[in-house]
Amino acid sequence: MRALSSLLLLAAIPLALAVKPEDFKTCSQAAFCRRGKALADRAGQNPDWKSPYSVDPSSLAISSDKAAFTAAVKSSLYPDIKFGLDVRVHHDGVVRVRMDEVDGKGKRYDETASWALLSEPQVSKDIQWTVGKKEVKATYGPKTDKVDVEITFDPLVVTLSRNGRSEVVLNGLGLLHMEHFRTKEEPKPAVEAVEGGEDAQTPMEVPEVHNPRSWFEGEEEDGYWEETWKSWTDSKPKGPQMLSIDISFPNHGHVYGIPQHATRLSLPTTSGQDFFYNEPYRLWNSDVFEYHADSTMSLYGSIPVMYAHSKESTVGVFNAIASDTFIDVAHPEPGSSYTHWISESGILDVFLLPGPKPADIFKQYTGLTGTQALPPQWSIAYHQCRWNYVSSDDVRSVQTRFDEEDMPVDVFWLDIEYAEEHKYFIWDKKNFPDPVDMVNDVSAVERKMVVIVDPHLKRVHSYPVYKEAQDLDVLAKVKDGQSEYEGWCWSGSSAWVDFFNPASWEWWKGLFKTVQSEPDKFAWIESTTDVHIWNDMNEPAIFNGPEISMPRDNIHYGGWEHRDLHNLNGMLFHNQTSQAVRARTDPPMRPFVLTRSFFAGSQRFGAMWTGDNLGTWEHMAVGMKMVLSLNIAGFAFSGSDVGGFFGNPEPEMLVRWYHVGAFTPFFRAHAHIDTKRREPYLLDEPYKSIVRDILRLRYAMLPIWYTAFHESSVNGMPVVRPHFVVFPEDEAGFAIDDQFFVGGSGLLVKPVTEKGATEAQVYLPEDQVYYDYFSGQTYRGSAKGKNVTVPAPLDKVPLLIRGGSILPTRERPRRSSPLMRRDPFTLTVALDKAGGARGELYLDDGESYAHEGGALVWREFTAARRGKATHVASADLAAAKPEAAVDGAALALYDKDNAFAAEVRAVRVEKLVVLGLEKKPGSVKLAGSELDWEFVPGVASGASKEGVASQLVVKNPVASITGDWEIVIQ
Ligand code: GLC
Repeated sequence: MRALSSLLLLAAIPLALAVKPEDFKTCSQAAFCRRGKALADRAGQNPDWKSPYSVDPSSLAISSDKAAFTAAVKSSLYPDIKFGLDVRVHHDGVVRVRMDEVDGKGKRYDETASWALLSEPQVSKDIQWTVGKKEVKATYGPKTDKVDVEITFDPLVVTLSRNGRSEVVLNGLGLLHMEHFRTKEEPKPAVEAVEGGEDAQTPMEVPEVHNPRSWFEGEEEDGYWEETWKSWTDSKPKGPQMLSIDISFPNHGHVYGIPQHATRLSLPTTSGQDFFYNEPYRLWNSDVFEYHADSTMSLYGSIPVMYAHSKESTVGVFNAIASDTFIDVAHPEPGSSYTHWISESGILDVFLLPGPKPADIFKQYTGLTGTQALPPQWSIAYHQCRWNYVSSDDVRSVQTRFDEEDMPVDVFWLDIEYAEEHKYFIWDKKNFPDPVDMVNDVSAVERKMVVIVDPHLKRVHSYPVYKEAQDLDVLAKVKDGQSEYEGWCWSGSSAWVDFFNPASWEWWKGLFKTVQSEPDKFAWIESTTDVHIWNDMNEPAIFNGPEISMPRDNIHYGGWEHRDLHNLNGMLFHNQTSQAVRARTDPPMRPFVLTRSFFAGSQRFGAMWTGDNLGTWEHMAVGMKMVLSLNIAGFAFSGSDVGGFFGNPEPEMLVRWYHVGAFTPFFRAHAHIDTKRREPYLLDEPYKSIVRDILRLRYAMLPIWYTAFHESSVNGMPVVRPHFVVFPEDEAGFAIDDQFFVGGSGLLVKPVTEKGATEAQVYLPEDQVYYDYFSGQTYRGSAKGKNVTVPAPLDKVPLLIRGGSILPTRERPRRSSPLMRRDPFTLTVALDKAGGARGELYLDDGESYAHEGGALVWREFTAARRGKATHVASADLAAAKPEAAVDGAALALYDKDNAFAAEVRAVRVEKLVVLGLEKKPGSVKLAGSELDWEFVPGVASGASKEGVASQLVVKNPVASITGDWEIVIQ
């Protein structure tokens, strides 16, 4: 119990926050969280603490396929209440632990997983169960790497171990508590005094009865049946349903995940000795105005996945719960982590991810919730947004200015002011008299538009979308379950579609059709298929609601209360919009839909951004950390508003922010309506030219980004990768979150997020050569880890190439990325200290689903020393690894001469650059013929001394990017 007492000791010390926190509850302002915390406090003070929950061994059953185990669970507090436990092992070793009340007076929300999961996971058939007197154990995995899941009976504790080492423990601290359904006891009527007696008006004193459960549950029924906060009263017809569970990682000193919070990647503690924050991390999707850049407050989305990491292994838990959840984190001893999750309602449905390496947990987590959908290629280029481009002519002139300044851009965005009275889909014809012509002017140079569609519907019957939703009876209801809920948002008095109601789905799809197929139904015919969608305010944000959202006792489809599923709300809206955009054409095209609110699984539906950040250096820095956290939590396609949503960044800050954006998966500039215009062409020199170069750098690197997205879509690897992911055994890197790698490319970037900086310290974790991307300067790392100083004047982002990488880029500036489709490639071979290198390139048409049928090109480039020669070669990777070419099953349809490959066959490699050769070659040949090359002497890749690397430049070496070839440098 020592660990527990130190975990809880200092948790109650107050802390002053700078942000406007008063709109949102702290743990102590939410009755369920107070109860959960108080439970932990009592446990911390009681050295003899023991969980009252136990497994009834007589009820034990192992399913006939040997995959699952079920048992009855009892609580010694309430012997008459029944709980059921179900533990199963999936084919990939993930363990699912479920517990619910059985035959209770009510039903807990149990549908979170069904929304979050991609599909019902397959169970393993290869499990060995051992049933003992005190425990049952499932064992699996190869002999040399055994995983055990042990369920001890009394008290109920679930432990996942690998080779005998405890990795994840549920209820090890005894904080499991599932408040069962009960009947509200009416207050006892005052006992009438004896007639005519002296004290006729004084009720008799009721003797105090000690509550025998108070050691666990406390004396008070704190907020069981109703709760008032500010001016809102939350009725709780179902009574208390709090779910508390402690999850420990006894051998892991770092925990990551549970986005979205504006904090570091390695989560600072919230309780125990020397805690960093005094509030638990909260998951309750919220529209937080001017959020703090360093806080545990909940933000717009929630992904309840947490990873624990040590040198030896990486493990994780996915807690499929969508109600309000507070999470305490502590490291009672160095090298161990304890967490306590307190949720308002829902069943216990926890997935244990056994790892043991980062790549394994990402695969396991995205195996459950799906990988990042492969985006349309144009959507990973640069987006120009602002609240608002005020008219169609404004859009046209912004486009003209970009073109005049030779700045590439792919997408122009329209915020809410395009819509008449904020009735989404309905153009404000005063300012946008010709929407389709406007879109066509933009798409003439293969650009797109993204237009906002928010979930609040203005409550006027002349608005067809509202009218149709009402007629269909798909609007969210107030607590009586009958009357339409009315709240306040951009559009004034509004209603919200209940996307939990399947009847809304087909209808919602119909709205986005760009052709009228059903005469009486609204279809967005004043739009085109070049218009993609932005979903905002989907937490949902409601200006006059409690915590700027919906009342918790509102009723959704199926009779569920809003409290049960709040954190899913944004994802359901995003999901339906994404399907709607996809369904506009036949065959379908990849949709782009940006969401603000999200949950586990949202990565299947598009991109997200981190919401309304501030134009400050702190926000610039924390945005990157948030994006890293989202990336490891499966949501790779993420980014922050470049420039900051609020405020007017000075040119230096804006330039640095463009560097950050150019190395973020989702790259969009956006600004509040009250800010000054800050399109990059408005900058003075030298800033304007610097930003032009940054945009061009992003465009040159699009093949690298797209290849990283492809990999993510197949195996769940993050698109931007923090150090612990790439070097899981290097302890010095576990907390690093200000430098990161781009996919598997070997690019290591450390954007500057400090005013006035002229250089940056970059940490090199290995004895390897790294090359400055721009100058070719080498830096030699050390096996012990080493910081090197890299120049970082304003026009240069610290960007290194890890020795051993081959980078495919496209160096010709174009107005938009689809115009680069046929552009030639440059291959940069950055030799490692032994003279080898490797890289990949994935290509497809960038917009359709033809790649799923094998229309793709996936190349592997290698450089290897053979004798005195260096061989640089290109080979087909899709044929070698068909199972990894496309998400899902092996790609039987792949043919290296597929239609797409044929289309790009004429695309050549116009330049091959080899960095770090030892000396000037005597010849550089392809198929026996000498190529056209030049050599600049310099430092060799294996040298311990640093300097500018030698450079071999070969001009026009190969005629086709799709071909197999080998260049011999001798
Ligand atoms: C919200 C969004 C912001 C948008 C604004 C108007 O604040 O987060 O990006 O510009 O609403 O739609």
